[in-house]
Amino acid sequence: MNDRYVIIGNPVSHSISPLVHKQFAQQTQQALDYDLLEAPLDSFEKTLKQFVATGGKGGNITMPFKEQAFALCNQLSERARLAGAVNTFKVEDSGQLFGDNTDGIGLVNDLQNNNIVLRAKKILLLGAGGAARGAIIPLLEQQPTLLYVANRTAQKAVRLVAQFGEYGALQGGGFNDIPTQPFDVVINATGASASDSVPDISSRIITPQTGCYDMYYSKERETAFVTWARNLGAQICLDGRGMVAEQAAESFYVWRGVRPDTQPVLAMLSNKRPHTEDGDEA
Ligand code: ATR
Repeated sequence: MNDRYVIIGNPVSHSISPLVHKQFAQQTQQALDYDLLEAPLDSFEKTLKQFVATGGKGGNITMPFKEQAFALCNQLSERARLAGAVNTFKVEDSGQLFGDNTDGIGLVNDLQNNNIVLRAKKILLLGAGGAARGAIIPLLEQQPTLLYVANRTAQKAVRLVAQFGEYGALQGGGFNDIPTQPFDVVINATGASASDSVPDISSRIITPQTGCYDMYYSKERETAFVTWARNLGAQICLDGRGMVAEQAAESFYVWRGVRPDTQPVLAMLSNKRPHTEDGDEA
């Protein structure tokens, strides 16, 4: 029997992760199955433990369970610890759970795939939940001059900045506190796109040169954030599909010790984009 992997979330039917991992398995000739597993909102722990008890080898965790997964893992990678959230787990031979977080590296890799430069740039990160938290250290490692974390609830952004305080380029506050200057890169890590809305921020931060990236994606249509940024004239507006492929490749490496080539998957996903001009799930 093939080794079994899953993506656990609620809802999870929209996930493109099974498609991506099946391609990776084929490409690297790894014998594994990868399926969707919807956990009831009040029984994530039971669902995870059942999967492990029946011989499951690992998987991804998506909304809204990343923080719960973090709390349930026996061991954590440094990046999961810093993110406070787990999007990748591996069942060790001992039955213990190893938790990792590949979202941040997936985001940075996809930004780089799309020639969005981060070094010495001004970056605005919208949101202060698990998705934003996982992105902070990987973004700071690229040495921007400013990483401004803005959140609808200002306190949460301020708390995040205090938590990562030793990094000089990091600042944060509410949407009204965002410095009214154009940013080089604007990343939406809020859940607004899930409800087809856009964070209530000034349009003055966007110029045609601003690289705009929505960590969210929808199979059916362009996200509200991508439409908003494109209507403001931004030339580069991307949704989070590429990030899904990149974080998936990193997860695959954690499980199998083999790093798949993301290019064929990225090409497949870009053909599926609802708009040709244009990753948070797993
Ligand atoms: P995730 O793990 O995906 O980050 P989360 O931890 O629930 O999910 O965080 C959701 C984030 O999206 C928060 O930053 C939230 O802002 P608040 O802290 O003010 O709640 C943000 N968010 C959700 N819907 C939003 C909207 N319509 N406009 C702006 N921000 C929104």
